[in-house]
Amino acid sequence: MRIDILTVLPVLLQGPFSVSIVKRGIKKGLVDLHLHDIRDFSKDKHNKVDDAPFGGAAGMVLAMQPLHDAITHLHSERQYDEVIFLTPDGERLNQGRVNQLSLCGNIMMICGHYKGIDQRLRDHFVTLEISIGDYVLSGGELAAAVLTDAIVRIVPGVIGNEMSALTDSFQDGILAPPVYTRPAEYNGWKVPEVLLSGDHEKIRKWEEEEAIKRTKERRPDLLDR
Ligand code: ADE
Repeated sequence: MRIDILTVLPVLLQGPFSVSIVKRGIKKGLVDLHLHDIRDFSKDKHNKVDDAPFGGAAGMVLAMQPLHDAITHLHSERQYDEVIFLTPDGERLNQGRVNQLSLCGNIMMICGHYKGIDQRLRDHFVTLEISIGDYVLSGGELAAAVLTDAIVRIVPGVIGNEMSALTDSFQDGILAPPVYTRPAEYNGWKVPEVLLSGDHEKIRKWEEEEAIKRTKERRPDLLDR
């Protein structure tokens, strides 16, 4: 899978992608990740990447020319399954969408800044608009990092233990059950007896019941779906 990210702040994404799961996916050759600085495409003599909005509203918009040139440059090199714009007015991200995106070959992500990007670029190039939640970030970069992490970790082979990603919260539409590790008693706090029983069927049933109980308590909306 290849992911190209267009941003005015590549430095914001270098950290998250240089450690842990995403780094492992890249190292294993399962994910090809490219950060593109929109400023490199600017033809303005001061490399300007923002411009004032028509209509006199407050704030700035990402300038048309550098972003358009960056998008068309990438399109001239390969076809994209999705061109994703990260924006608070996009579709709210969930695991189902992440699963679908993890099957793509090439994804382009566009990080907005200031008040966003020109609507004509959204109309003509963007195929999917994603929000990571009902709050506003300073730019799309952290949202792109969240989306990339969620996608990369379920690309087959990235996580060593395949079962681990399949048993995540949301993967079967409900939250994950609680987990415990050694020692069986710590500070007087005991691990539930059933987990020490060695009876795998009983443990599986307990985990299922706990997952449903937790989902009922915390996210009943998931059970309604
Ligand atoms: N850009 C700014 N806020 C965002 C959000 N909540 N989700 C995605 N992109 C954003």
